[in-house]
Amino acid sequence: MAKEKYTVCSALPYANGPLHLGHVAGVYLPSDIFVRFLRMNDHDVAFICGSDEHGAAITLRAKKEGTTPKEIVDKYNKVIGDAFKDFDISFDIFHRTSAEIHHETAQDFFKVLDEKDHFTKETSEQYYDEEYDQFLADRYITGECPNCKHPSAYGDQCENCGSALSPTELINPKSTLSGKTPIMRKTSHWYLPMERHEDWLTEWIKEGKLDGVPHHDASKWRNQVTGQCMSWIDNGLRPRAMTRDLDWGVKVPVDGGDGKVLYVWLDAPIGYISATKQWALDNNKNWEDYWTGDRKLVHFIGKDNIVFHAIIFPILLKAHEGLILPDNVPAYEFLNLEGDKFSTSRNWAVWLHEYIESYPDKIDELKYVLTSIAPETKDSEFTWKEYQTRVNSELANILGNFVNRALVLTQKYYNGSVPALGELTEADKVVLATIKLIPAKISKFVYDYKLREAQAEAMKLARLGNEYLAETEPWKMVKDPANAERVATIMNIALQITANLSIVLQPFLPATATKLSEFMNFSTSSWDDAGLTDLVPAGHITSKPSILFPKIEDEMVANEAEKLEATKVTETVFDPQKDETSFDDFTKMDIRLGTILEAEKVKKADKLLKLLVDTGLDKRTIVSGIAKHYSAEEVIGKQVTVLMNLPPRTIRGVDSQGMILMAENEKGELSFVSSEKDFDAGFGIH
Ligand code: 2FM
Ligand code: ZN
Repeated sequence: MAKEKYTVCSALPYANGPLHLGHVAGVYLPSDIFVRFLRMNDHDVAFICGSDEHGAAITLRAKKEGTTPKEIVDKYNKVIGDAFKDFDISFDIFHRTSAEIHHETAQDFFKVLDEKDHFTKETSEQYYDEEYDQFLADRYITGECPNCKHPSAYGDQCENCGSALSPTELINPKSTLSGKTPIMRKTSHWYLPMERHEDWLTEWIKEGKLDGVPHHDASKWRNQVTGQCMSWIDNGLRPRAMTRDLDWGVKVPVDGGDGKVLYVWLDAPIGYISATKQWALDNNKNWEDYWTGDRKLVHFIGKDNIVFHAIIFPILLKAHEGLILPDNVPAYEFLNLEGDKFSTSRNWAVWLHEYIESYPDKIDELKYVLTSIAPETKDSEFTWKEYQTRVNSELANILGNFVNRALVLTQKYYNGSVPALGELTEADKVVLATIKLIPAKISKFVYDYKLREAQAEAMKLARLGNEYLAETEPWKMVKDPANAERVATIMNIALQITANLSIVLQPFLPATATKLSEFMNFSTSSWDDAGLTDLVPAGHITSKPSILFPKIEDEMVANEAEKLEATKVTETVFDPQKDETSFDDFTKMDIRLGTILEAEKVKKADKLLKLLVDTGLDKRTIVSGIAKHYSAEEVIGKQVTVLMNLPPRTIRGVDSQGMILMAENEKGELSFVSSEKDFDAGFGIH
């Protein structure tokens, strides 16, 4: 395979919270596997990431935590960066968009595009929250998604269906600051007229050609990526605002930009470039080498980032001129957790840093499970039960068992020395041929971005070894000295498989591969060595193994399931505000404090209580549907709120003269509404 040049970028996570397993499975782990594989194949790779520290995701989080955006990004840049290190994600740099070099880079980029007339400046009406004195864009506004009807899409995208939106497309928009319906107000912004780019984008995405010249292999783009981009283009691209009226972000560097910052989706992808610049500075390299010329740019992202990386950023890169465009944008679908979506607000998540803290010795176990279930082509699901099953029945029973047997028997029969290969049986030949074939199959899957299948193929080598030993049973044959040569041959082959595993597992399970190398006293990080059947010669000394994968006990699964339930926050969805009413209508209602004097159940009606209520004016009978929540005894003496002037009704044969007002929560529980100062019955509520 010819050596190639790659710049691999993983989506910059917002520094507004820790990472959960959904992020890891759908961006960071696959990109890490891909890069480790490329490095083993001696390609020239830069692996870039950092935290995305601007935009409403940050400022709204700061508001929620009652702190500043700076505090938030400093805190989560560290939490996220540490988790990546501990999980051994092998970025060349994990940078941040609050760095000065990033602000300069993003501003220069903006200026170049502005000078080349790639923006238009337009004054338009935008949503504005009068109470907060602020324009509302992006996450400052929510409403119903026009595409999937999800009730809480943001002003720039729907996280449910992944579509990119504009605030004016939202149905029934509301400010996330005040919760109110915003008004429209005039403001000026720089727009990217995306419609100018429809033709070349269509050819580039569908055919992989850039201005008529072959650029990338379009057949390797995932269907959902091409599909989402083409549906966006087919609906007609429109100008998109590239600046915002905010003070947190990269300042607009041209005249008229006061009080405005760059749109976070303009500044964030430029973060890949500024991170590369910092890495180049730190390592005596030229950043341009990684963004120009004959080099493949690959973006690992989640599906909600597709159009930003496959349409908007490519437009910006091409308009800037001289910079490379993505070769592929492997986007992942979403990972769910125990039957529900991951949700930060509901705390329905397994947090990466918490997993690492609880199970520092089970990093590869998690990597293995997440790659096995990675949401490559459709949404998938993580459950602790499946984690246990995969670790126990695949890692422990197959990989761990095989390696342990091969090395323990070698200790026992040959004091750790690799025995010589004797005459081969037909079965041996098939096994050796399979060892040779597996690395090429893994490679093909990796280059096609099918990392799930690539890992499964690597595990086939362990399965092969396990089955080979189970079928040949050297531990039985060894009892007859006449079989000595046969046993030596079997063990030699088993050890060649083990040495091969220490190579092919490196991209997927790096810690395990290192342990295997140590057991085997053999190490190579060249993929070219994978598939060789004479990696360890006769007489080579191996070491005593330790257990690779201790079994996952039921207790751990139960504890984790319990923890999830215990820490879950129930999200409250309040009824939307009703249509406007008039003050006159309100004053027509006679609402007063009352006291319940007597109460009894209404016969043959399990929901109803018949109450005698002192309203100050009179003592009247009111039938109330509260019997499922209150017994007759416990309501006597309670102060309540009474709607007095409803027309009398006969309910189950009882005349009811009014209504008791109750508060109801999301579980349907009821509560009386009473006066905080214990006012007497009869006083009005206005
Ligand atoms: O969706 C997100 O989490 C964004 N912070 C991803 C940004 S990727 C890149 F453009 F920086
Ligand atoms: Zn949607």
